[in-house]
Amino acid sequence: MKILECRELVKKYGGTEAVAGLSFSVEKGEVLGLLGPNGAGKTTTIKMILGLTRPTGGDVTIDRETRIGYSPETPYFHPFLTGCEVLRFYSRLQRLDKEKAEPQIRRLLELTGLSDAEDKRIKNYSKGMLQRLAFGQALLGDPDLLILDEPTSGLDAVGRIEMLQLVSELKSKGKTIIFNSHILSDVEKIADRTIFITNGRLAGQVSRSELCGTSLEELFVKTVGGAGHACSDAQYIQ
Ligand SMILES: Nc1ncnc2c1ncn2[C@@H]1O[C@H](COP(=O)(O)OP(=O)(O)OP(=O)(O)O)[C@@H](O)[C@H]1O
Ligand SMILES: [Mg+2]
Repeated sequence: MKILECRELVKKYGGTEAVAGLSFSVEKGEVLGLLGPNGAGKTTTIKMILGLTRPTGGDVTIDRETRIGYSPETPYFHPFLTGCEVLRFYSRLQRLDKEKAEPQIRRLLELTGLSDAEDKRIKNYSKGMLQRLAFGQALLGDPDLLILDEPTSGLDAVGRIEMLQLVSELKSKGKTIIFNSHILSDVEKIADRTIFITNGRLAGQVSRSELCGTSLEELFVKTVGGAGHACSDAQYIQ
């Protein structure tokens, strides 16, 4: 069952066509990896899915009952709040019940390894700590669909492994996850299917079973390095 469908999405910023007719859908319970070089249009696509930016063309269909959690590429939180206060603030924005939110906030701080820093102000958080907090914030309210824009980019090695484990656990609970990363081994570990985006277009897609021994890195270099060159390992879309 489809949880999300993007049809012919286009986004123009003045003369720049950030997304140029991108179509793809996501199945419920699927972990979808978005891969593409810098400036390919991944974040812009995510922002259109979330309604944070309006498409110039095309549309996004998403079930109105679907609760979405979002961890942005560059998390920004009010610098004078503590980690715990940030999660409390977002729980109020979501109108979560105060009594129920508190234990959830504690659990998320623990899950993201921030319990010891929960009373520290955000201005004193490191990049990785902010990334962890953004992930915790995305999990508030137990969303059905998680959209994670480069969730592992600022994390140390242990943090990355923990994050990938968490994503796997969320998948086993039936959550749908869309995430984008430049760390191809991370995508390879957890994505059921990966789509390649170049110049705002779908350049190819591959499912885990279709990879059969080929590394995602190899496929990525072929796809991105030679637009228009056939690659027998990926299913190409016009
Ligand atoms: N607000 C904006 N105004 C003008 N141009 C923008 C804006 N946001 C993105 N762009 C342009 O749109 C294109 C796609 O950017 P986007 O951030 O979607 O890429 P990305 O695939 O997420 O890249 P990265 O991997 O570096 O995060 C780029 O050329 C970028 O300069
Ligand atoms: Mg981006």
